[in-house]
Formats: sequence, C-alpha cells, structure tokens
Amino acid sequence: MSKFWTKFRLLVLFVIFSDSDQASTPDSLTYVAGVVEFNPPIFKYRNETSAPEYRNIIFSKEAEDVDIMVFPEMTLNTVLTTTFVPDPKLKIVPCDNADYEEFLSSMSCTARDSRKYLVINVIEKATCTNTTQESIGDPRPCSSNGLNSYNTNVVFDRNGAVISRYRKWNLFGELGRNTTYKPEYGVFDTDFGVRFGHFICFDILFYTPAQEIVSSGVTDFVFPTMWFSELPFLTAVQVQSAWAYTNDVNLLAAGANNAAVGSTGTGIYAGKQGTIVATMTANPLRKLFVATVPKKGSNLAITPSIEENDIGSQDLFLKRDHIESYNTSIVDTSSEIVRETLCHEDLCCDFIAVIKNQTVSGNSSSYTYRLTVYDGNRSYSGAAEGSLKICSIMACTNATLASCGRVFTRDVQVENTFIFQDILIEGKFRNSGMLFVMPNSLDFTYMPVKNSEYYLNKQEYINHTYAQISLTQPRANLLTFGIYVNVLNKTESGDTASSAKLSLLALLASSIFVLFINGNLIR
Ligand SMILES: *[C@@H]1O[C@H](CO)[C@@H](O)[C@H](O)[C@H]1NC(C)=O
Ligand SMILES: *[C@@H]1O[C@H](CO)[C@@H](O)[C@H](O)[C@H]1NC(C)=O
Ligand SMILES: *[C@@H]1O[C@H](CO)[C@@H](O)[C@H](O)[C@H]1NC(C)=O
Ligand SMILES: *[C@@H]1O[C@H](CO)[C@@H](O)[C@H](O)[C@H]1NC(C)=O
Ligand SMILES: *[C@@H]1O[C@H](CO)[C@@H](O)[C@H](O)[C@H]1NC(C)=O
Ligand SMILES: *[C@@H]1O[C@H](CO)[C@@H](O)[C@H](O)[C@H]1NC(C)=O
Ligand SMILES: *[C@@H]1O[C@H](CO)[C@@H](O)[C@H](O)[C@H]1NC(C)=O
Ligand SMILES: *[C@@H]1O[C@H](CO)[C@@H](O)[C@H](O)[C@H]1NC(C)=O
Ligand SMILES: *[C@@H]1O[C@H](CO)[C@@H](O)[C@H](O)[C@H]1NC(C)=O
Ligand SMILES: *[C@@H]1O[C@H](CO)[C@@H](O)[C@H](O)[C@H]1NC(C)=O
Repeated sequence: MSKFWTKFRLLVLFVIFSDSDQASTPDSLTYVAGVVEFNPPIFKYRNETSAPEYRNIIFSKEAEDVDIMVFPEMTLNTVLTTTFVPDPKLKIVPCDNADYEEFLSSMSCTARDSRKYLVINVIEKATCTNTTQESIGDPRPCSSNGLNSYNTNVVFDRNGAVISRYRKWNLFGELGRNTTYKPEYGVFDTDFGVRFGHFICFDILFYTPAQEIVSSGVTDFVFPTMWFSELPFLTAVQVQSAWAYTNDVNLLAAGANNAAVGSTGTGIYAGKQGTIVATMTANPLRKLFVATVPKKGSNLAITPSIEENDIGSQDLFLKRDHIESYNTSIVDTSSEIVRETLCHEDLCCDFIAVIKNQTVSGNSSSYTYRLTVYDGNRSYSGAAEGSLKICSIMACTNATLASCGRVFTRDVQVENTFIFQDILIEGKFRNSGMLFVMPNSLDFTYMPVKNSEYYLNKQEYINHTYAQISLTQPRANLLTFGIYVNVLNKTESGDTASSAKLSLLALLASSIFVLFINGNLIR
C-alpha cells in the first residue's frame, strides 16, 4: 500500500475518532443498533461479493451513531468465495491478513475504521481431517476435499477482531452446508455493557441453541435471516416480534430481501415493550434501519414505533401452511356476537368475537374469516418436523378452506364489510416439551398488531398452560389473530448439560472481568 493511502487512512481514522464520542458506554441506559435489509446484487461473476455495498452502508451518514450493525443471512459471499474464519478465542484481526478472503479482511477493516461492532453472515470453509473428526468424537467422515462448509455468523469488535463465531445448527435444507457435531452457542460482550446472543434464521423455531442462550440470562439478540414468509402464522416480522415478546428480550433482526421467494422482514424489537422499527416490503430494498434500544432493566420506554411498513409495489410471494388439516369454522357475521368452542386432538379453544357491520364502497372485496384449531405436527418443507398447538382466527378470500392463508392480489380493492369490535380467544394447552406460547397476529400490511393493542394472559398449571388473548381496540384489517404455541424439544443435551455449561461460561467471563478490574486497581 502506498504511503499516500496509509496517510489517507490515518486521516480518515482521526476524523472518525474525533467525531464519534457518541459511542454508548456501560453507563448508558441505551445503545444504538442498526439492522440492514439487503437485496443481494445479481453477481456478474460469482467470485464477487457485496463487501463494497456493505461498506457504503456502514460509512453512510445514517450509520454514524450506530454501536452495533447487523447484516442479513447469505447476502455477502458465494460458494466461490468461501472464507476461513478465525477462532474467536484467538482475537485475530483479519484486516490486511492474507489468510482470509479479501471480503472478510475488508469487513474487519471496516469494523475497525468505523469503530462499530459488526455482525455479518458468511459461507465459511474450515479444514477438516478424519483425525480431527475423531478427536472431537464425530463419527461423520470429513468431506473428501478436506473442507467443511458452514453457514456462519461472524462478529467483529470495534478493532476489527473476530470476537464471536456461530455455525448454524438448524439448517433449512441448504445442500452442501455442514453442521457442527455439537451445537455452538454464539455469545459476546460489548464495551457498552450488553451481552448478546446470536443465531440464524430457521434457528428461531427451535430450542437449541437460541432458547438455551435465553435461559442462560442473555437479554439481547442478533438475528441475520433470509426468511421465506408463510401465511397465516409465519411471516417474517410476525415471527420476529412474537419471539422477542415471549422471551421479553431485545432482538435485532436483519432480513435478506427478495420478493420473488418471499424474503423480506427486518426489525428492532424491545421484547414485551414492542416493535421499535420494522419493515416488510416487496420492493427491492437495501436500507439501514437505526434505533435507540433501551437496555433491559433500564426501565426506559421505547420511542414510539416508526411505521416503515411499506408492503411494496408488487405481490409478495408467500408460502402457505397446510391449513386443510386444521379444524376450522366460518365466522358467522349474521349476529353481533360469535361464541364457539372448537377442538382438535387434545386441544379445545374458546372463541368470542363481537362484530359490527360497516358500509363499504360497491366494488371492494371483503375477507371471510375462520376460527381455527390445530394440535399436531408439521413439516417445514421437509427440512425438519415441528409440533404445534394453535387457537386462532384467520382470513380467507372466499368461503372455501382452500382460500384461507391467501391474500387478495394488489389489483383488488379490499375493504371488510365488518369490524371486529372485540376478539377473545382462550385455550388450555397440555404441557409437553417446552410450550413456547406466542401472541400471533398480522394485518393487511403484513405487520403484527401493536403490543399495546392486544392483551395476552398466561398461567401455568401442573398439567397444562392456560392462555388467553384479546384485542384492546377494534380492527377491520386482520389476516391473523390468535395464540400460536411452538412445542419445543427440550432435549437432554440442550436442557441441562449445555445451559449449565453456558451459565458457567457466563459466570467465568464475568469473574475474569472482575479480576481484571481488581488487577488494575491493585496496580
Ligand atoms: C472472477 O471471475 C472472472 C470470470 O471468471 C475473472 O475474469 C476475474 O478475474 C475473477 N476475479 C477475481 C477477483 O478472481
Ligand atoms: C460435510 O458435508 C459434506 C457434503 O455434504 C459431507 O460429505 C461430509 O461428510 C460432511 N462432514 C461432516 C463432518 O458432517
Ligand atoms: C475420511 O474418511 C472417508 C472414509 O471413511 C474417506 O472417504 C475420506 O476421503 C476421508 N477424508 C479425508 C479428508 O481424509
Ligand atoms: C350485517 O349485514 C348483513 C347484511 O347486510 C346482515 O345479514 C347481518 O345480520 C349484519 N350483521 C350484523 C352483526 O349486524
Ligand atoms: C372440530 O371441532 C368440533 C367442535 O368441537 C368437533 O365436533 C369436531 O369433531 C372437530 N373436528 C375434528 C376433525 O377434530
Ligand atoms: C365498479 O366497477 C365498475 C367496472 O369496473 C365501474 O364501472 C364502476 O364505476 C365501479 N363502481 C364504483 C362505485 O367504484
Ligand atoms: C409429533 O412428534 C412428536 C415428536 O416430536 C411425537 O412424540 C408425537 O407422537 C407426534 N405426534 C403426532 C400426532 O404425530
Ligand atoms: C424432537 O425430538 C425427537 C426425538 O429426538 C425427534 O424425532 C423430533 O424430530 C424432534 N422434533 C423437533 C421439532 O425437533
Ligand atoms: C375461492 O378461492 C380459491 C383459492 O384462491 C379459488 O381457487 C376458488 O376458485 C375460489 N372459489 C370461489 C367460489 O370463488
Ligand atoms: C396431572 O396429571 C396427572 C397424571 O395424568 C394426574 O394424576 C393429576 O391428577 C393431574 N393433576 C391435575 C391438577 O389435573
């Protein structure tokens, strides 16, 4: 590198340093987070990466005050540019280090030059021999080329050092990617006093590792994703906000953007306090969303949520759940009060709805609604099995069950002929595994109902969990409203051993911190 460029970089560094005394500290009650929705370029050559575009966003004016910045899953490199990622224990700075792919070095330099924590997701390569496999007790053979390939989150600190690495445990198909033999737990500490956990996309529907990190006491999470939204219960922001609510944790979610496969959905959520910012869009989008996040325990209120719910200029491709196996019943709008109990397998749900007609213009279409109950298993596109318990109301485009979990196309003017003045849904969910009880809702803009506009009440008993959800404001634009229970596999390794290990690790980390401070004091 020429002297000129070295000087130039020093100058830039100096300017940035003197400008950014804004960085949050352990004493701050808040920190500033940035999440990026990113439409990946159509690479001219698959050996190109998005590093230059990422860099532009990181150095943009909007990013100035950001302490931690998160990019989505699978939008940075390709199989032709897989990279080694250093072991976080070694605290290596890949900037200007030829052991790593150019884009990874560049991201490290960018983290250092911008003085930000940076979370990216990469296709990683890692050397593997049958001997190393044996040494960790993994019976699976190494790939014949001696390289494992992982879907990996990489976290850089403000000096560009890799401080955390997590290899995705719950792969969604993803041919050619490997999993580690044992689950990894991505956890890192920051200089603004917040400990983060991180995981990837499909992981959000499973106990290991995300829920185990929550159990260890971590309150802030980072979530790169490339979600394939599904109606009526699993669109991106719907799931993200519900996960943050049920765990009552801060969640920074960055979504890949590609309307053709239903990928969109980015947001910053403050647990039970609700959404700070979120977006769902069918437009091609590369955008940074910045928010001030109250630290958990600070008791600070969030600033009112910013409405960025632009659903876009085209239809968003949406998958559909296997609704035909649910027990459903059409909401009868002829009387003002609907009262019904509906059962499926081991689950009965009680529904009460209060309905009021409204006049609509002649040509508009109205959704038909069904009460719906489900207690059973499902497949996630063949990638894995899940177990669910659902009590909900869902929208249908006509009276047939085949039309439920579908939306009118953009050319149709939609205006419901009635308003839900009130909805109250309750169920008794038999305890099995870990019942992850989520409020689940969605409106015409693919945004969930605001946390202040519904009320969820949950009580746990010896053999069952009782849950009730109700609207606190009338609504005429719902697609979904109900209780969605994900029955999580609380496995042996996951439940006891690992989370005990995790909290031990956390304890160790904090005691080292204390020792360090004490050491300084003594000196
Ligand atoms: C990327 O691939 C193209 C076409 O195969 C080639 O011309 C170019 O030199 C490659 N670039 C790098 C950085 O490897
Ligand atoms: C990694 O994936 C490759 C290709 O699917 C497979 O051959 C290899 O056995 C896997 N390695 C491990 C350790 O699972
Ligand atoms: C590991 O062993 C398997 C057979 O058990 C073999 O096919 C494979 O090539 C070996 N991999 C390496 C990297 O030696
Ligand atoms: C709403 O209007 C329809 C006909 O327009 C009527 O049959 C129905 O009883 C009305 N429902 C309520 C709740 O008033
Ligand atoms: C659906 O619920 C109704 C009312 O509880 C019940 O009579 C019926 O047997 C249920 N159908 C199925 C398929 O579970
Ligand atoms: C309804 O649609 C028809 C044909 O598309 C049109 O001629 C008519 O003006 C529309 N009426 C209203 C009230 O929008
Ligand atoms: C659902 O899956 C669980 C294991 O995950 C199994 O124990 C249960 O029997 C399955 N239920 C049904 C109805 O197939
Ligand atoms: C739960 O665990 C059982 C047994 O290990 C397994 O068969 C099933 O697929 C798992 N279900 C989920 C949702 O992970
Ligand atoms: C109802 O909607 C379904 C799904 O969009 C469609 O296939 C069917 O033709 C519609 N039926 C009627 C009677 O409009
Ligand atoms: C819980 O289930 C057990 C075993 O089925 C039963 O013996 C017990 O009476 C139940 N307890 C309550 C409070 O329902």
